Amino acid sequence: MAESMKGLHRSHRCTEVTGSNIGEVVTVMGWVQKSRNKGGIIFVDLRDRSGLLQVIFEEGDIGAEGFAKAEKLRSEFVIAVVGKIEARSGAANENLATGSIELRATELRILSEAETPPFPIEEESKTKEELRLKYRYLDLRRPDLQKNLIMRSKVATLTRQFLAEEGFLEIETPMLTKSTPEGARDYLVPSRVHPGNFYALPQSPQIFKQLLMCSGYDRYFQIVKCFRDEDLRADRQPEFTQIDMELSFVDVDDVIGVNERLLQKLFKETIGVKVSLPIQRMTYAEAMDRFGSDKPDIRFGMELKNVSEVVKNCGFSVFTGALEKGGSVRGINAEGQAEMPRKKIDALVEFAKGFGAKGLAYLAVNSDGTYKSSFSKFMTEEELAALVAAMAGKPGDLLLFAADEDDIVFDVLGNLRLEIARNLDLLKKDEYKFLWVTEFPLLEYSKEEGRFTAKHHPFTMPMEEDLDLLDTDPVKVRAKAYDIVLNGTEIGGGSVRIFQNHVQEKMFEVLGFTKEDAYDRFGFLLNAFKYGVPPHAGLAYGLDRLIMLMAKEDSIRDVIAFPKVKDASCLMTEAPNVVEQKQLDELGIGVVSQEC
Ligand code: AMO
Ligand code: AMP
Repeated sequence: MAESMKGLHRSHRCTEVTGSNIGEVVTVMGWVQKSRNKGGIIFVDLRDRSGLLQVIFEEGDIGAEGFAKAEKLRSEFVIAVVGKIEARSGAANENLATGSIELRATELRILSEAETPPFPIEEESKTKEELRLKYRYLDLRRPDLQKNLIMRSKVATLTRQFLAEEGFLEIETPMLTKSTPEGARDYLVPSRVHPGNFYALPQSPQIFKQLLMCSGYDRYFQIVKCFRDEDLRADRQPEFTQIDMELSFVDVDDVIGVNERLLQKLFKETIGVKVSLPIQRMTYAEAMDRFGSDKPDIRFGMELKNVSEVVKNCGFSVFTGALEKGGSVRGINAEGQAEMPRKKIDALVEFAKGFGAKGLAYLAVNSDGTYKSSFSKFMTEEELAALVAAMAGKPGDLLLFAADEDDIVFDVLGNLRLEIARNLDLLKKDEYKFLWVTEFPLLEYSKEEGRFTAKHHPFTMPMEEDLDLLDTDPVKVRAKAYDIVLNGTEIGGGSVRIFQNHVQEKMFEVLGFTKEDAYDRFGFLLNAFKYGVPPHAGLAYGLDRLIMLMAKEDSIRDVIAFPKVKDASCLMTEAPNVVEQKQLDELGIGVVSQEC
């Protein structure tokens, strides 16, 4: 039977009691982590979100009735205990914050009993994630998840504090809105009042925050849910949270400046990591050329080298053939890996094929200076020596080459260097390497759609010096867009915005919208620009990704209270689910049943 806590007031959380409380009477409440009955004396580890405290029950202190009650305690019972803090009688437990003290109970109330949970509530759980997600409310009791969510709350609080001090206003924007194109599919919400019409859940508050700048709010921020119906991965959820901001009368350096100070504060005050400013910047072109990625992990080297010039006249047709088709030949040097067994090299070749490579050419420089290679038979000694020199290859090194169109070569080698770094355990989670990637291309060509699409979004300002290229060579136009990258993860991105009506109209035109289309979809923004608009720019962080890296987790699911799984369902609530016919009728929706 559940007892009430009437008359009792919690005086401390479990780990708020310390050696300085010895001799004091305290009242604590929480969950039984573990109970050990040693006959005549019962030890209970009491848990709350702060941690564990050892409680001792002996009949002499608590009486026969109280002791009988203590004998009933099982894991996850919720109890209240009154007692006196003492120095620990047995050996101190150095792993616990409260390891040198214990609570000698004089009163016990069982506030709630508990069935045996389907898995143990413990740190570093070995239980399969599916089961844990089904019982997420139990999973969330585990100290690792509690630490992550506490950290998340702290980051949100610090962000609000910092941005308020910097003159930002927190303003909410609608969740039921019109679709704003960010490149992903929208989640749609049917309107009952307007049958056949749909709201879209926002992929980001992009247009609204720009309108707030038009309305003179000067600096806006919001910690806001965004919704994107895209394929899920470890760092992607259908609903996720942004720290979103927009600033008026600023350019790239101003946005970067505020955000560097924000990052510095967040990292120092949550995980004690010093971020040295300024953070390194690299253009998109340089990032691709050196790392084959627009979000390079710069915790390690193994940079790409373009050897096209060196091999252009060699006898290996895989190389020369790629060059003739306008592609390139590039390589990476896995230093000291010449002895890598054939099986592992084959695995790398397969890995490369997963990114569209037709193959992966390798050359190991043996310690005696000879080569072991998949292509040396096609090249002369001189050609090989020139290639090895171009890769700064030394005895003991393994050189890996991809020959193809640039896009494929970058993707293959960019991912290969990460794979090798993972295999060699070069990626240390407690090393934080930030990088701004700037000057992204404004557009990319979509083969499926047969038109240009915006690389960031359609409101991003082209670089002034490239404006003329919009008519002649749109792919070459660079944008005033920037991403903030941490350890190879894009944690945020933003841009300076187009604020002139004619440039925005031009942008829509390049994207293939007729003027009518553009006004139909974005008339409110284009019209707003006609009534006095300040130059403005902004940025949004993926808060989940930021916390994932701060908490040294591999998945954003571990920093979201109630995440979804790969197929975008929630294993606990079983959303999405079918709804009643009555609800569909009200919405004027008929479901075309699909055979599974
Ligand atoms: P962008 O689309 O780059 O920019 O998004 C900003 C950041 O949000 C995070 N993110 C995600 N996190 C988890 N799951 C997802 N599905 C997901 N998609 C994106 C990333 C990303 O860097 N309106 C612009 C910002 C601006 O221009 O100010 C925008 O949304 O960390
Ligand atoms: P092949 O002549 O096709 O047997 O290829 C000889 C070597 O070149 C093998 O190691 C292949 O994996 C490699 N190779 C094939 N195509 C490519 C390519 N596009 N880029 C790099 N290496 C390749």
